[in-house]
Amino acid sequence: MGRTCQCFTWTLLLTVCILIGKISTQTDVCVRVPRKTTDCLLSHKYNPVPRDSVTASCLQELVWEYSAPQNLSDFDKDYFKRLSGQFLQRPSVPLSGFRQRHEYRQLSTLERGKIHRAFQILYDEGTIHRYGKLYGQAYSTIRHSPAFLSFNRVFLTFFEEELRRVDDTISLPYWDYTVDFQTDNPVNSLVWSDIFFGNGNGRLSIGDFREWMSPKGPVQRRYGESNYAQLMSRETVAAIVSKCNSADVTYPVKNEADEAFVIEYHHNGAINWVGGSLSDATTAAYDPVFYMLSACTDHIWEVYRHVQRASCNKNPSMDYPAESDGISRGAFERMIGFSDLANALGYSNYWTSYWYNYTLASACPDCKSEYLWCDRSINRCVGHSRRTDYNVGGYSAPLNEPFEPVADYVPHRVDLPAHPSPFNDGRTMATAKRDAKLAVEKQIAAAAAAAAAANAAGERLMVLNALSQSSSD
Ligand SMILES: *[C@@H]1O[C@H](CO)[C@@H](O)[C@H](O)[C@H]1NC(C)=O
Ligand SMILES: *[C@@H]1O[C@H](CO)[C@@H](O)[C@H](O)[C@H]1NC(C)=O
Repeated sequence: MGRTCQCFTWTLLLTVCILIGKISTQTDVCVRVPRKTTDCLLSHKYNPVPRDSVTASCLQELVWEYSAPQNLSDFDKDYFKRLSGQFLQRPSVPLSGFRQRHEYRQLSTLERGKIHRAFQILYDEGTIHRYGKLYGQAYSTIRHSPAFLSFNRVFLTFFEEELRRVDDTISLPYWDYTVDFQTDNPVNSLVWSDIFFGNGNGRLSIGDFREWMSPKGPVQRRYGESNYAQLMSRETVAAIVSKCNSADVTYPVKNEADEAFVIEYHHNGAINWVGGSLSDATTAAYDPVFYMLSACTDHIWEVYRHVQRASCNKNPSMDYPAESDGISRGAFERMIGFSDLANALGYSNYWTSYWYNYTLASACPDCKSEYLWCDRSINRCVGHSRRTDYNVGGYSAPLNEPFEPVADYVPHRVDLPAHPSPFNDGRTMATAKRDAKLAVEKQIAAAAAAAAAANAAGERLMVLNALSQSSSD
């Protein structure tokens, strides 16, 4: 290995030497780091993990703390402003035409491949970074306000235009996380496998997006770990659509109980459930999951708007809530980034009339996807488990996905609920295996009970037949 390095020990600030570069051209670099980093570096002694992986993780944690915010350049600002200007000029004529957004699991293998490829091209050319930076900067303004839904819609639509610049036959898929809520344990969902998002535990080591980077180190996820995280259920969606006013389903709320109907609150539940890069707004939009998850939230909002029109006789386009505590969040203030637009324009019906709409998620009995199955006990389409050992729904997985992809050790970021969201429902990463096993046992028992009932019915029929025969004899 390399030369030894002169390291000075300080009381609080210790110096650590890092070997950088290839084996043949090693360079020693000494940097002063806080005490907790040196403690972290020693943690491999107490954990069954490789030393190199611990070193990388501890330094990553250090980078998280010291990395400066990524500011938009003047070029970036012009870029987004120009896009929003295009909407103003011809709001009913999207550059790349009208498109329909489909659920991620309902795409064909070919379509999914084209979309993954377009994401990769946008990543390689720096477009993902540009959108990632914008989201990081916008979040503190849009959060906790009616501007959240508005910005989310415009942000995703222009991002979708980028995907379609690469390939005009594709659209932005949505990940229907209400389907995953129904899975025995959402951690077991097939979307966390190499043909979809890749692994959900730590930095991305499998799938098409593996090794992606954010400004704070490798993109990573920590699904099913946070105490302040839960995917949205269909029941929650039903509760939300029972409200007639946009002000009922957006922040600010008058009292805490009203939060249960706020779309942003439950969206945050899904964001924090995925965790990792997603739960930090400055790294969230560097993970493709962010776009497809946010598109589902937009889809739920669209369902809400539809019901608003049909049941409440209200035009959602005219229902941007009057905002009291806002800076840059009012209806007529400029949208952050897309500065030619006012916030209220995100509520315009033009987007889903002329730019895109959603195909509905499939329903029982035909779930229209090899990755979904109809659970007759609840009469809903449910995601297949990627756990080949514990298959629910009689699914024989063609994937042979490893039980839980081996993840690098990543430091546990304690993400306080910066984005308030519902408590988890007790189904965590730690209980995933148990829950999958229980679900399979339940299914086997149900199948056995059905067979027994059929058998009993068959026997009864035989007896009846025998009786009727003997009586007619
Ligand atoms: C980024 O923007 C913030 C807020 O405008 C500013 O305080 C900070 O100095 C900027 N950082 C860089 C590196 O330009
Ligand atoms: C979405 O657009 C397509 C194509 O214009 C149309 O056939 C379909 O009815 C629309 N769906 C909804 C839910 O509006």
